[in-house]
Amino acid sequence: MTRRALSSSSVVLAIVLALVAAAGSAFAQSLAPISLPAPMMDGGKPLMSALKARASAREFSGDPLPSQTLSNLLWAAWGINRPDGRRTAPSASNKQEIDIYVTLPGGAYVWDAKANVLNPVAAGDHRADTGTQPFPATAALNLVYVADMTKAGRPATDPQQMLNVGANAGFIAENVYLFCASEGLATVVRASVPKDVLAKALQLRDTQVIVLAQTVGFPKK
Ligand SMILES: Cc1cc2nc3c(=O)[nH]c(=O)nc-3n(C[C@H](O)[C@H](O)[C@H](O)COP(=O)(O)O)c2cc1C
Repeated sequence: MTRRALSSSSVVLAIVLALVAAAGSAFAQSLAPISLPAPMMDGGKPLMSALKARASAREFSGDPLPSQTLSNLLWAAWGINRPDGRRTAPSASNKQEIDIYVTLPGGAYVWDAKANVLNPVAAGDHRADTGTQPFPATAALNLVYVADMTKAGRPATDPQQMLNVGANAGFIAENVYLFCASEGLATVVRASVPKDVLAKALQLRDTQVIVLAQTVGFPKK
């Protein structure tokens, strides 16, 4: 093939890829936001019983979570629990740099804690993109804890900053563990995440860092 033919075929390929990307993004936009019911902040097991039951599990049934349970789960994880906007988990200097992305069979969403809405990010089933192990694809959902380094105060190159970001995500993950223990749900937090694949699937910006993922679902029957 001549150099000219090669370069024109590269142009055609670039156009095709751009059209595919545009179609993908238009499709994501056609996913509707999911408004969740107000979280129920009462009930559940006593704290000591939930601590007694807390454990990692890696076998899930594919049954979806009822929307009330999903709302309660997200509120327990990282919901607003005070009038000044502070949350159920602490964050260094109250920077609140973590966003929770949720991969459901029908699409990937980012949770707006204030509005209690799941805003569409990408259409399609991205559960498998959250893990290097097979089970994330089989559970009701995966949570992905993503740090927005523009909010964190110091850059990702600062080791203390990255320790803080890891700790902040860890608190959220433990809230999810305790909620799941209380509700009889199965969960496991995961660092084994194909970060490049997932960042692309979730259309993350360069200033966003994937910290951890956490699979949640009903236990396998
Ligand atoms: C930071 C962190 C990363 C983890 N990453 C993974 C993971 O990628 N895959 C996995 O199956 N479990 C992962 N786990 C779960 C641990 O393997 C689990 O907590 C440990 O074996 C103790 O079991 P337990 O949680 O039931 O007490 C992770 C846990 C933590 C705290």
